Amino acid sequence: MAPSLQITLFSLLFIFTITQAQPSFRPSALVLPVKKNASTLQYVTTIHQRTPLVSENLLVDLGNRYMWVDCETNYVSSTYRPVRCETSQCTMSNPDTCSDCFNRPRPGCNNFTCGVFLENSVNNIAMIGEVAQDVVSVRSTDGSSSGRVVSVPHFIFSCAPSYLRRNLSSGAVGVAGLGRNKIGLPSQFASAFSFKRKFAMCLSGSRSSNGVIIFGNDPYKFLPGIIVSDKTLTYTPLLTNPESTSASSHGEPSVEYFIGVKSIKINSKIVPIDTSLLSITNGNGGTKISTIDPYTVLENSIYKAVLKAFIKESAARNITRVASFAPFGACFSTDNILSTRVGPSVPSIDLVLQSESVVWTITGSNSMVYVNDNVVCLGVVKRGSNPRTSIVIGAHQLEDNLVQFDLASSRVGFSGTLLGRQTTCANFNLTSSA
Ligand SMILES: *[C@@H]1O[C@H](CO)[C@@H](O)[C@H](O)[C@H]1NC(C)=O
Ligand SMILES: *[C@@H]1O[C@H](CO)[C@@H](O)[C@H](O)[C@H]1NC(C)=O
Ligand SMILES: *[C@@H]1O[C@H](CO)[C@@H](O)[C@H](O)[C@H]1NC(C)=O
Ligand SMILES: *[C@@H]1O[C@H](CO)[C@@H](O)[C@H](O)[C@H]1NC(C)=O
Ligand SMILES: *[C@@H]1O[C@H](CO)[C@@H](O)[C@H](O)[C@H]1NC(C)=O
Repeated sequence: MAPSLQITLFSLLFIFTITQAQPSFRPSALVLPVKKNASTLQYVTTIHQRTPLVSENLLVDLGNRYMWVDCETNYVSSTYRPVRCETSQCTMSNPDTCSDCFNRPRPGCNNFTCGVFLENSVNNIAMIGEVAQDVVSVRSTDGSSSGRVVSVPHFIFSCAPSYLRRNLSSGAVGVAGLGRNKIGLPSQFASAFSFKRKFAMCLSGSRSSNGVIIFGNDPYKFLPGIIVSDKTLTYTPLLTNPESTSASSHGEPSVEYFIGVKSIKINSKIVPIDTSLLSITNGNGGTKISTIDPYTVLENSIYKAVLKAFIKESAARNITRVASFAPFGACFSTDNILSTRVGPSVPSIDLVLQSESVVWTITGSNSMVYVNDNVVCLGVVKRGSNPRTSIVIGAHQLEDNLVQFDLASSRVGFSGTLLGRQTTCANFNLTSSA
């Protein structure tokens, strides 16, 4: 017993010495900028990785299991380490294979390494990649502005072949997966800095200004002094889909974010739909949130019912329907539509959640898309009659709303449109003090 005690004391002393020499800074939150690419409608964030550090643009994918990066082209780093099979890091990443590589060793090509299916959700292509670790560095925040840079020395990510980058906005070298699994960004950041496993996403509706993703603790402050916090958000339970909806799934639970929409109201009137489509059965049905689909995607029968009700309520307001613009099915002349702070004044759409009093209200700023100065369209699209998920809340519907994904408490918080509070997601102060 005595020797081991001695070692423990020695270790403590050692840790104490290091702490003294290098006073550690533990951030309570981290912030990533998010920019929308106006031509692809993809949301792209920037992180720093490797030694020496390189800036990488990554597609923001809420429902992806991994951070993956193209390692086949220009990945040079002295701190790159492949994750070997049968290690705890490999187990955490839920491996699909143990791979060998019959080529010259390089990042992405090593023997006896942990292999996983990596997915590109834009084109639904999946390929095997090597799990690895390298330094990742991001900015911390106190909730009101961007602070000093902090690093995670052994961040677990995956190495993709260059081919998997196809269909990502040019300049993007991979994907920032925000999934609910152990090595998604939210879980790794939370465990690296011991903050709560939650993050807030605030996508900017502006093409020129960044929105943000904030990992860790609230509050979130937006200029000019608007505070969004756990206390001001409305919460709904985060639901688990027991079966992944992804192309490369083999029956494991989904890492995506599902919520329980119970009914849809337009102008406060219930839209008649088959409510069985709203629950999750054998992995099908239900409602999830996506940053990959630019507009909300509805199952065919729900789409028809929503359009019918919206067109009827719009007509009652003397809003004139005009010819459709693909991919939208309901477009209107702007002539009889007033502009308000929360967008064009059109019938409101309510997603009714766990009770009649918990409602996600979608105002004109999030429901409508301007196709030109004279025409606005209802920003929803249909997907075939038999999609896996009945309602996919798309990115346009999330813009300038703060949505918090609280994995620790299994709940999703939403702010409603920040435009109503005289701020936007672009108003988070990303100018750094350090
Ligand atoms: C993997 O092992 C094989 C067989 O020993 C060898 O030929 C190959 O070069 C190795 N690959 C790497 C990347 O080290
Ligand atoms: C991906 O890119 C290819 C080639 O540019 C194109 O033909 C294809 O339609 C794209 N797929 C998607 C889903 O955007
Ligand atoms: C957006 O993506 C397109 C297509 O990949 C690319 O040509 C363009 O440069 C990107 N825009 C920005 C601002 O990165
Ligand atoms: C719609 O137009 C009709 C006829 O011009 C008018 O009587 C009615 O008050 C208008 N309704 C609304 C809601 O503006
Ligand atoms: C943004 O944050 C920086 C750094 O903390 C600060 O110097 C600057 O005054 C802030 N900007 C505004 C508009 O408050």
